[in-house]
Amino acid sequence: MTFAIKPFAACLGAEIIGIDLAEPLPADDFARVHRAHLDHLIIVFRNQSLTPEQQIAFSRRFGPLDRHPSDQASLDGHPEILVVSTRKENGKYIGLPDAGPKWHSDLSYVKTPALGSMLYALEVPDHGGNTGFANMYDAYETLPGDLRAALDGRRAIFLPGRAQKGGADFKIGFSAEQKERVPPVAHPVFRTHPETRRKSVFANPQHTIGIEGMAESESEPLLQRLFEHCAQPRFTYRHKWRPGDMVFWDNRCALHIADLSRIGDPAYRRHMHRTTIMGDVPF
Ligand code: OGA
Ligand code: MN
Repeated sequence: MTFAIKPFAACLGAEIIGIDLAEPLPADDFARVHRAHLDHLIIVFRNQSLTPEQQIAFSRRFGPLDRHPSDQASLDGHPEILVVSTRKENGKYIGLPDAGPKWHSDLSYVKTPALGSMLYALEVPDHGGNTGFANMYDAYETLPGDLRAALDGRRAIFLPGRAQKGGADFKIGFSAEQKERVPPVAHPVFRTHPETRRKSVFANPQHTIGIEGMAESESEPLLQRLFEHCAQPRFTYRHKWRPGDMVFWDNRCALHIADLSRIGDPAYRRHMHRTTIMGDVPF
């Protein structure tokens, strides 16, 4: 297949033009797509028309799939698909309407955080609901020296929701049993990408609650400085969704954030399917 890889003007992201993800991808094309994902952190495929099975099949090319702890938000019959949606049935959200209120990396609060996530847009609002992405290699490489020194070699503690330090932020909520499945874990503040071998910032303001072996009075100002550094516009790309977009990001070296400013507005309708590729233990 002939297809083009067009990098965005931002410091991350590229569009892949000329691939129909509903068709099986030959091995050499897959290798180019895989390379583009490593090089650009986020790849965007537009104008796709995918069944859940086709999305799952493409996602599996990158590794086994993981499941979100909120299993009540998964697609009926397809537990590998997390529904990210403002739709309600019988007055209840059918999926997560508010995934990602702060900069984060998916499943960074489990032992083996996600390699990547693929979010496929079925319905998008005319405005609002963009998703921001940030390049954590660049954030790492530009860290002020004293901040890097203070956090180098340290491990951070991760939980599903930072806000409640033990609870989750999501509207759909985590049950006590689901929380038990995700006890606090520690990962390096700065991790090495297992494929590119580059270092990046991994701690994030949605899931990181502290630093191992450090009092909160010491860790909190350091984390706040780190989070501010990482969120600078120069490290980011903002995706404006169209129906049929499939965006695949690398959770090992990029953060992302949802724009939830229109949540609660009845005219705001957004419906997406996410698959999540399992990653390995960060080092
Ligand atoms: C996610 C997520 C952001 C968005 O699905 O993991 O963070 O804009 N989504 O919906
Ligand atoms: Mn997310």
